Amino acid sequence: MKSIIILVAVYAIFNCSCQIVSANPAFQESAVAEIPLNCPIEGVFGYPHPKACDEYFQCTNGTLTHEYCPNGLLFSETGHVVGFCAYSWNVDCKDKTIPKPISSPGCPYQFGFFAESDHSPCNVFYSECSWGVPQRRQCEPHGLFYDDRIKGCNWPDQVGCSSESLLNFKCPDEDKGNRYWPYPRYYYNEASIVTCVQGQPRLVNCGADELVDAASLTCQPVHKEEETVNVHKRRF
Ligand SMILES: *[C@@H]1O[C@H](CO)[C@@H](O)[C@H](O)[C@H]1NC(C)=O
Repeated sequence: MKSIIILVAVYAIFNCSCQIVSANPAFQESAVAEIPLNCPIEGVFGYPHPKACDEYFQCTNGTLTHEYCPNGLLFSETGHVVGFCAYSWNVDCKDKTIPKPISSPGCPYQFGFFAESDHSPCNVFYSECSWGVPQRRQCEPHGLFYDDRIKGCNWPDQVGCSSESLLNFKCPDEDKGNRYWPYPRYYYNEASIVTCVQGQPRLVNCGADELVDAASLTCQPVHKEEETVNVHKRRF
């Protein structure tokens, strides 16, 4: 039943200018308590539910509806993963109710980012779940590991992982002569530098129009003359 409501709600948000009025009488009471009786005639607005963190009210061009965030998402006025819903870790529910997980193969919740189930703690892959279907994602740029605490990719030293084999680079011990000590830097390739933090290499990529200057070990803008030369090289 709930999933039907969710599907209808989502259909309404994305596809439909139809009117949906909830049959749940409780909604009418709480709606009166929390949100304006008059929906603004024009525009789409979301209003928090007083008790449930995953529910909300929506005014769509003057029509009020009761909406449910898909599992793993919670109401947020600025949320936009689906409707007015954001990933749960970005929402502070205070003392509102939080729904139980609805899991499916590869997805603890229907929406979210998750460590792979067979994961070693140091994995460059993670799962992005959407409507209960996992998609395998890889940390970008190269050299980062998935960190479930931040629901994103992080430096190897921050996750307690070794990136030596990933980057095929080993930080020299105690390289105090390095001008960038205590974060010594090394040339990696023409577009990247390695900097060592707690003995683990971090790969730092230069910007799109930059290259590594090997003498200073910094990223420097590509000079116009070189750019022209490169263009000619490519063209002929
Ligand atoms: C709301 O009304 C505007 C103006 O009439 C219209 O362009 C828009 O598509 C409507 N939005 C929805 C979600 O129905």
